Amino acid sequence: MIGLRVAGTGSFLPERVVTNEDLSRTLDTSDEWIRTRTGIVSRHLLDPDTPPATMGIAAAREAMGRAGLPPDAVELLIVATNVPEELIPGSAPFIAAGLGLHHEPPFFDIKAGCAGFVFAMAVAGAMMASGIARNALIVGIEALSRFVDWGDRKTCVLFGDGAGAVALTAAGEERGILGVSLHGDADKLGLLRIPAGGVRLPASAETVASRKHFLQMKGRGVYQSAVTMMERATLEAAERAGISLADIDWLLPHQANLRIIEALVRRLGFPRDRVLVNIDRVANTSTASIPILLDEAVRAGTIGDGDIVALTAFGAGACYGTVILRW
Ligand code: UT7
Repeated sequence: MIGLRVAGTGSFLPERVVTNEDLSRTLDTSDEWIRTRTGIVSRHLLDPDTPPATMGIAAAREAMGRAGLPPDAVELLIVATNVPEELIPGSAPFIAAGLGLHHEPPFFDIKAGCAGFVFAMAVAGAMMASGIARNALIVGIEALSRFVDWGDRKTCVLFGDGAGAVALTAAGEERGILGVSLHGDADKLGLLRIPAGGVRLPASAETVASRKHFLQMKGRGVYQSAVTMMERATLEAAERAGISLADIDWLLPHQANLRIIEALVRRLGFPRDRVLVNIDRVANTSTASIPILLDEAVRAGTIGDGDIVALTAFGAGACYGTVILRW
């Protein structure tokens, strides 16, 4: 048990909403295909001229405001993202600068596919438990619209942009992280990747011409692994927490595909009305998916004091995991 409190949540979705109908005007796809295969109806996309960090800054400000955590009290900032603001120095420094964290707290990025936010929760919890920080800010932020090939119907329809944040503060043993299960399956690293732009294959005229800077995905392969990964991690985290699945009040799965979520719920035998979903409006926002969902549920009053909440995700790597919290 790691004693901590989610003292505040926040989220930001760009103003521009793009519907399936909008996409079907320029792409060989249809609202019917996207809706029935994924559950997605629309997504928010960031304007090309807006720096993505502004989304994370807005979400973090909201979380800090609700937590009553002023900038100079932040002792740790972890940013989960797959596509950083710049390759060097990543996203965290940009968000720290935007938040005015002038007292030089530690900040860094975590890259763990779409499971990045779940990994960040576990890392922040461990750092808080070891006394490195008494409070922490975690931001999940993604602007994948900048890295999807808008001519590839197999990927571009799936993703949306956004950011979510939580402010954590130390608390007694009555609430906090009850159980964690994190995994990585490197045999599956080829399922989701952006092959060029890193040190293995730096940008060149050839990499641009061959479209290697765009996200490549073996959708079927991801789909088949996703359910068993989240199932395994959730069962393990519950066992480590010493609880049964029936004790979990709310399950917040990564919003990648409604059919994946429904298959997971069926396999776990978990009540569907205790599973939170916003994929229809938000699509797959990768690392931002769970904190956005969490913020919406907190603001709606769905999640309340003492509730047991399970956050589960999978993604590139393949990284996957579950964190179970008592609210
Ligand atoms: O955060 C993790 C990120 N990724 C995921 O979680 C993705 C996991 N995978 C999935 O969600 C599903 O595999 C997809 C939604 C990506 C695809 O669904 P599927 O049922 O696995 O379809 P498929 O890839 O087997 O494709 C079936 C057909 C193909 O046509 P043919 O070859 O049978 O003629 C595709 O070309 O559907 C076609 N298709 C489309 N048609 C209309 C693929 N994308 C589209 C589209 N609109 N957008």
